[in-house]
Amino acid sequence: MPGPSPPDENGIPDAPSGSPTFDASAADDGTHRPMGTVPAADFWDVLYGRRSIRKFLPDEVERPKIDQVMHAGIWAPSSCNYQMWDLVAVTDPEVNGTLAKLSTQMANAPVNIIVSYGREFSEEAWANIQSASALIQNMGLAAHALGLGTFWITQTGGAERVREAVGLPYDRVVIAVLALGYPKVQPKRGPKRRPLDQVTHYNHYAGRPIPSSPSPADWEPDLLTTYQRARVLNGLRHNKPRAWEVRALEEALDALVPDGKERPQPPEGSTEDPRGRWLDVLPCTGIVTAKVSLLRKGFRFDVAERSQEVAEFCAGRVSPRGAAFAWPEPSIEFEAPPEGHYDVVSCFFRLEGLRESDRAALVAEMTRWVKPGGRLLIAYVSSRSYHGLTEKLRARRGGPKGVEYVLSPDPNIGPFAPLRPGDVTGLVKGAGLEITDRFGSQAAPPPEELEFRTRNMSSASGKVLRGIAAAARAFEKLPGATSRRGRFQFLVARRPK
Ligand SMILES: Cc1cc2nc3c(=O)[nH]c(=O)nc-3n(C[C@H](O)[C@H](O)[C@H](O)COP(=O)(O)O)c2cc1C
Repeated sequence: MPGPSPPDENGIPDAPSGSPTFDASAADDGTHRPMGTVPAADFWDVLYGRRSIRKFLPDEVERPKIDQVMHAGIWAPSSCNYQMWDLVAVTDPEVNGTLAKLSTQMANAPVNIIVSYGREFSEEAWANIQSASALIQNMGLAAHALGLGTFWITQTGGAERVREAVGLPYDRVVIAVLALGYPKVQPKRGPKRRPLDQVTHYNHYAGRPIPSSPSPADWEPDLLTTYQRARVLNGLRHNKPRAWEVRALEEALDALVPDGKERPQPPEGSTEDPRGRWLDVLPCTGIVTAKVSLLRKGFRFDVAERSQEVAEFCAGRVSPRGAAFAWPEPSIEFEAPPEGHYDVVSCFFRLEGLRESDRAALVAEMTRWVKPGGRLLIAYVSSRSYHGLTEKLRARRGGPKGVEYVLSPDPNIGPFAPLRPGDVTGLVKGAGLEITDRFGSQAAPPPEELEFRTRNMSSASGKVLRGIAAAARAFEKLPGATSRRGRFQFLVARRPK
């Protein structure tokens, strides 16, 4: 009977060619033991050596091995030890063909193990999913110890269709599918894991409570760094800015940085990049940086962020990949941006999250990073606008309160306090710069924002608000109204030559 050869230096066994030691043909005697004789395996090698395998040999997997894999699965813990799982190992090419039609993910392996659990069992605590997941992970590890490969499939093309395809009863819900077979290729190294110290905490997240306050004064800068790193790396980067926010950004760029829409061609024979250099400061999710880099292809973009992981992530969102720099705490590995290097240094809606003294420090640094004759571009939300009203609407009905970065509408990214235009002017002048241009936009909520903010309101209150907004939009047409009362404020300051 085929079995695995010894693991390679990565702990991954070669495709098995035969192992006299494997004999799981014995019936399950219910003891806490493998079903028969299994190859010796070092627990840590198996744990760290398992990789998701997505390409398989067409070879059939022997039934005793499939049984052994599933046997390892059912020794997983389950909520209340109810063991409400039912597994269907699909080896029949015809049934696998039906599954493959539902999702191409199930077209790769000779065996697809359908994992189901009691429908509606303890859904409120996801105990059904947790129990089935423990079983799946056990199976993945056991398969690896037996020289087999697996990958975990959630994109099944519809849990109900999969259930019907294999005849599972209605009271079972399909949680996932585990593809199983002999690996075609042996991956040498798997995807990296985030370092332990970034994802683990003792006794309290980040060692102390995260403020729930939107006031920057309540946030220690290092806590903000930890918090944003976790938020960005754990999924905030998938957020999309709202359409009306993107529109404001586009209009402001056209008004204030009209150059650089097209990518310039290098002179014949020159290898030098003819593009200008742009540094975006505190991009956080990098969503805006990515957008601006597409709108201004005539520039190459670098970023400066609080943590190296976030900076690297944002630098990877622009093409070609930018350089990742540090602010406010540079180190040997994570340096400050170069001085006097950039044609444009921008900061989009991030001064609002800083303490007053840090705002001044950041604007002073940004000024140093700009070339003589270069531009500083600052975007902020004005406290003299309707911003406060939308915040109230957003917080209605127990919705998320307070904390929101504009152009990254997740409510849990950190503190945010709109700024007084006079204070921003003071900051820029304090750094020795002269403001050369301003642009304000959206003195009244655009219709689609209002529609969005009032979507859960009674139709009467929604109507009243939409009426007020329509009147406000008429006011917006008055000369100067948008520039003075606009929610989004942009300014450009030049560094003297
Ligand atoms: C809940 C869950 C769902 C997954 N769904 C899929 C999937 O639908 N397709 C796929 O190719 N891999 C899927 N995977 C595999 C992951 O992409 C893989 O585990 C991850 O990239 C880490 O790689 P490694 O397993 O080689 O260590 C899933 C993993 C888990 C835990």
